[in-house]
This record gives sequence, C-alpha cells and structure tokens, in this order.
Amino acid sequence: MRRLALSLSLVSLVAGAAVATAAVKPDAAIRYRQSAYTMIGWNFGPLAQMVKGEAPWDAAAFALRAERIAALAPQLPEGFPAGSDTGAKTEAKAEVWKNADDFKAKMDDFITQAKALAEVAKGGDEAKMKEQFKKTAGTCKSCHDGYRSKG
Ligand code: HEC
Repeated sequence: MRRLALSLSLVSLVAGAAVATAAVKPDAAIRYRQSAYTMIGWNFGPLAQMVKGEAPWDAAAFALRAERIAALAPQLPEGFPAGSDTGAKTEAKAEVWKNADDFKAKMDDFITQAKALAEVAKGGDEAKMKEQFKKTAGTCKSCHDGYRSKG
C-alpha cells in the first residue's frame, strides 16, 4: 500500500514537471528577458563610460563586466517564446516573432560579439577592447532599431 502511494506521488510529480516546462507563461518570459537586459545594461553602462573617458580606465573591471555580459547573452533567446508579444508591459515589437529569422540573426550576432569582447578583454589591450566594445554596442543598436519600441 505504501509502495502504491509512493509510486502514485512520483507519477504526479513527473506529470507536474512536464506541465511546468511545456507552458511558459508570457508574463514570466517578459519579466525574465527584461531582467536579463537590465543586468546586461547594468554592466554595459560602466564600459561605455570607460570607453568615452567619462570614468577612469580599469582593465580588470572591464574584463569582469565583459565576462558577465558574455554569460548573460546566450540566456536571452529563451526569453522570447511564441505568445510572449503581449502580457506584462513589454517594449518588444511584434516584429520579433514576425521576422523571427532576422531577429535570431541579430541575437546570434550580439552573442558572438559579446563573447569576443570578453575574450579580447582578457588580453588587456586597451585599443582592442575599445574597438570590440564599439562592435558590440552596434549589435545592441541594430536590434533595438527594429525590435524595441523605445530606446
Ligand atoms: C536581438 C535583439 C536585442 C539585442 C542584441 C539587444 N537588445 Fe536590448 N532589448 C531588446 C528588446 C526586444 C527589448 C524589450 C524587451 C521587453 O520589454 O520585453 C530590449 C530591452 C532592453 C532594455 C530594457 C530592459 C527593461 O528594463 O525592460 C535594456 C536596458 C537593453 N535592452 C539593453 C541592451 C544592451 C545594453 C544591449 C547590448 C549590449 C542590448 N540590449 C542588446 C532587444 C535586443
């Protein structure tokens, strides 16, 4: 009898887990991606200030922040499941899902450039870091231009 009860509760556990992964609520996805972008922006801002000379150059701090951005970038794509164009307040345009191939290409480009930024920063060469920062910043802008309603 105890055995049966145990196996039944295991069955419901497994079923529960399957449901949880199958249906991501749009609101949750929207909050997830906005949080990831907030963290990326948090780390990107100080890099921009260093590159513009508005903050003292600090190669170690630059490398740490670049590393964080490179780790966050590949976590973004799962924040845009089908159906998450509406729900919580979002600045993502409907084009994200309409032009899914182009959006994915822009996302891949960002991930690649962010990874390159972290790699270059390990070397500590200021000129190269600044150059790669500009390339990475370009990928933010080229996606925001078509896919974000503000900024
Ligand atoms: C592939 C597309 C894409 C790339 C690349 C991209 N963004 Fe965004 N970003 C978006 C979209 C879409 C939103 C709106 C998300 C929403 O509101 O659901 C957004 C929102 C944001 C936000 C606002 C988050 C909030 O609080 O709601 C910040 C900050 C941001 N992005 C910074 C950046 C920075 C910095 C980069 C580059 C280092 C970057 N993004 C690269 C598409 C992109």
